[in-house]
Amino acid sequence: MVHEFDAVIVGAGGAGLYAALEASKTAKTAVISKLYPQRSHTGAAQGGIGAALGNVEEDSPEWHAFDTVKGGDYLVDQNAAKILAEDAVRAVYDLENRGLPFSRLDDGKIAQRRFGGHTHHFGEGAVHRSCYAADRTGHMILQTLYQQCVKSDVQFFDEYQVVDVLFDGTTVRGIVVFELKTGELHVFQSKAVLFATGGFGRMFKITSNAHANTGDGPAILARAGIPLEDMEFFQFHPTGIKGMGILITEGVRGEGGILKNRDGERFMERYAPTLLDLAPRDMVSRAIMTEIADGKGINGDRKIDDYVYLDASHLGREVVEEKIPDIADFCRTYLGVDPAEEPMPVQPTAHYAMGGIPTDVDGRVDTGKQVYDGLYAAGEAACVSVHGANRLGTNSLVDLIVYGRRAGMHIAEYVRNTPAKTANAGDADRARERLDTFRNRTGGRHVGPIMEKMQEVMMEKVGVYRTQEQMDAAVAEIRTLRQEFKEVTVQDTGDGFNAEMLQILELENLLDLSLVTAASAANRTESRGAHAREDFPDRDDTRWLKHTLASLDGDGVTIDYKPVDVSIWEPKPRKY
Ligand code: FUM
Repeated sequence: MVHEFDAVIVGAGGAGLYAALEASKTAKTAVISKLYPQRSHTGAAQGGIGAALGNVEEDSPEWHAFDTVKGGDYLVDQNAAKILAEDAVRAVYDLENRGLPFSRLDDGKIAQRRFGGHTHHFGEGAVHRSCYAADRTGHMILQTLYQQCVKSDVQFFDEYQVVDVLFDGTTVRGIVVFELKTGELHVFQSKAVLFATGGFGRMFKITSNAHANTGDGPAILARAGIPLEDMEFFQFHPTGIKGMGILITEGVRGEGGILKNRDGERFMERYAPTLLDLAPRDMVSRAIMTEIADGKGINGDRKIDDYVYLDASHLGREVVEEKIPDIADFCRTYLGVDPAEEPMPVQPTAHYAMGGIPTDVDGRVDTGKQVYDGLYAAGEAACVSVHGANRLGTNSLVDLIVYGRRAGMHIAEYVRNTPAKTANAGDADRARERLDTFRNRTGGRHVGPIMEKMQEVMMEKVGVYRTQEQMDAAVAEIRTLRQEFKEVTVQDTGDGFNAEMLQILELENLLDLSLVTAASAANRTESRGAHAREDFPDRDDTRWLKHTLASLDGDGVTIDYKPVDVSIWEPKPRKY
């Protein structure tokens, strides 16, 4: 079946929905989602969206932009960060006007809390900048934007998995998708295509990411020959529920929660004397892993699966139930721990890809050497780059809203000036052959063991701390797993809701992105932000103040670079 649209948005999280909302002002717009939109991973963002409203104390977008650049260890494109911070203020009021139920201060203004790395006066102390709806901020954003899209006649195709992208040279003309309910392939002909498929944390064993976060957009574009930017920078959030990785929001520390080791010591005093527990995430995750390596984790066994405590019990039941009700429920449900009474066992969890599909500030896919006509990306799937080597908490939601909207605005203009493109049912042939290959193989391997092995390799060898030996081994092991993947066979021969076929498609995406991530990491011989090497512990601006562009090339990865915009603030060593 062939569908004709002006704009097709792949992904129904915050970035996709905001882009659809804007594009639909001039374009006949479809949103393709493998999930029901309200189940998108934006809904898991808990602690807030950063904007310098100054409702609690003095603040300024300039400080927000500076914090973003410094937090990203100066790999951030600085004018993009300036746009992010300046537009954040308008974006938050826009969400408020569209009906988002923010938590409130006593005077009725939007409530704001502290968050890691967000400071006043260029680093003097923590500032209340995160605008929140208890610990359900992302969930509220999703509900608000989905309702607005329905009102704007955006057409939703729920439970459709993207499998291919169609180009004429470097001009996009549509996509091919797999309908989960029927197993049928659909061709979407479109003037513009935007990928907002979210992150790919599922390549790691311990992750805060939903099962759906398999990097479908970046993987499909990588296979189409488009390089991916800064893939070596993957953020570990310091506080995932021990053993499971489910997010415990940084908002807990924003409200006054404290990290403690087995001696009851507030160890962040030694690592970040000014911001303490509210230092940027890369530093806090490293501090936790260092405590564990020194035998100061709660078990004291120095193993990487040891943990520390996040203590919010001194805040009192009223604060816990009002400000962090969801995470309190998670802890009670999954751990039998009541955070109002006892500390929460936490460990770093793979949380966020700073890298992704390279774009300009209007969401156009742009490698610095090539702009792809009609092709856009936004949100975690994209790399603008506003997060550099380490994203600050709350800036993911700002990124979705600010850059999702900008991409949507650009699409609205682009489709007005672009004639219809062509696609036909035959465009699904390549995807059909691929699916048939999975059905007809006799190799007999299953998804599960390959997925588990990949997650273990990435967790152990491309984790919070890395060495050349580990990353080289990860590249080799992921290559082997990609070979084994060639023998994976679908056992379920049915067409309707063939979840196994979906898992195979997702595993292929994760394997390809694992290879690109591990190879990009092995290539960068310095430590910066979330890329912390034991064998190269220092940042090296002389050689490495540049973005990586990594291209999937058969069984290998070729690496190129592009410059970083450092036109506003001179890179300096980070101290907190
Ligand atoms: O800690 C959190 O609430 C996560 C927020 C984020 O990743 O920005």
